[in-house]
Formats: sequence, structure tokens, C-alpha cells
Amino acid sequence: MIKFKVCKTSELPVGEMKLFVIDGKDLLIANVSGSFYCVQNTCTHREASLSEGILLDCSVICPLHAAQFDLKSGKASFGLPILDLKTYPIFIENENIFVGI
Ligand code: FES
Repeated sequence: MIKFKVCKTSELPVGEMKLFVIDGKDLLIANVSGSFYCVQNTCTHREASLSEGILLDCSVICPLHAAQFDLKSGKASFGLPILDLKTYPIFIENENIFVGI
């Protein structure tokens, strides 16, 4: 695993999520009550960009067909069987966010 710097913690306020392209991967990073989570940004149903969806508690809701994914586990909730999201570890060092890939 390699740690990549993403941004400063202050650049991703509580209740916000954002798309980052790190090492060629589209990653969604969210700040949930001061805890940061990272998952793949591409929905496993029809490849929508989850960064355009809705952050609800500790889940992201897909903008296209409303699949819901838990940001901690990547677990999918949907009417059809779809894959869970890949999750990535986050590290906070000196008020900077790093992701492990
Ligand atoms: S593309 Fe995300 S639920 Fe269909």
C-alpha cells in the first residue's frame, strides 16, 4: 500500500463529499461528523459518479437509481444484487488527508 496526500482536512468540511482522482483512480472522500471515509466513486450498478449523489448520514445515495452504499464498509443496499464499493483507508497527519491505495 502506498499513501497519497489528498488535501487538507479544512478543504473538506463536515457533511461534504468530493471526487478526487488519485493515482488514476476516481475516489469519493466524505467527511461524516469529522471522520473521513473513502470509497470508489463509480456506482457498481451503472457506473454513475457517486460524487453527484447525496451524502446521508454515513451513506452515499447514487444520483441515477438511488442505490445506497455505506461509506464505512462499502456495503450496497439496492433492490437488485449489486457489488459493494471498494473502500480505501484514510490517514490524517498534521491536518492533511492521506489515502492508502
Ligand atoms: S447507476 Fe447507481 S444505482 Fe444505478
